[in-house]
Amino acid sequence: MPCGGWAPYGRPMLDDLKANNRAWAEDKVAADPGFFKRLVGQQAPQYLWIGCSDSRVPANEIVGLDPGEMFVHRNVANLAPPQDANYLSVLQFAVDVLKVKHILVVGHYGCGGIRAAVDGERLGLIDHWLHPIREVNHEHRHELEAIGEEKARLERLCELNVIRQVRNVASDVFVQDAWARGQELCVHGWVYSLETGIVNDLGVTVGGLEELNKLG
Ligand code: CO
Repeated sequence: MPCGGWAPYGRPMLDDLKANNRAWAEDKVAADPGFFKRLVGQQAPQYLWIGCSDSRVPANEIVGLDPGEMFVHRNVANLAPPQDANYLSVLQFAVDVLKVKHILVVGHYGCGGIRAAVDGERLGLIDHWLHPIREVNHEHRHELEAIGEEKARLERLCELNVIRQVRNVASDVFVQDAWARGQELCVHGWVYSLETGIVNDLGVTVGGLEELNKLG
């Protein structure tokens, strides 16, 4: 029984994680006795994070935010595909209900999804998921081909992918309707470095239609 977790005969598993969890909860309460009680009532995050599923890019931790402070959506290669119901549901809830003020599209250098999109190997369903990256790669092929070193070329593709996803988010009707009703909302493009732990702001922040048109 490889997972051993079925009731009522299952044996307790992942005890180390449960112990970590208890210690974490105790620390939180020790530092702030009302911490969990406050969060039960409601969440009022100011930020929506759209990032990669990569285990090395833990959203809240990187930017030092606590539970309740950031709404998070993660998928392979931090995509915001306009046909994806999961992403769209998160986006609409964040914009219309939570009224977040900032949407952070966060890629990361060394992204396996970016590499897999363009290395020509066939992996299965994920090849379809990564299709938008191949389109970005094709559209910017002249700039990318001019970069001799593969690592640098893939890093630039990570950036170009983030810029494309910023455009996708900012072009979405939920976001545009929010701007039309005067809601304060900015979409940002960042890339995180696994090597330094530091995010690189790509300077493509869009806070309205005018800035979206300038994005090129
Ligand atoms: Co990744």
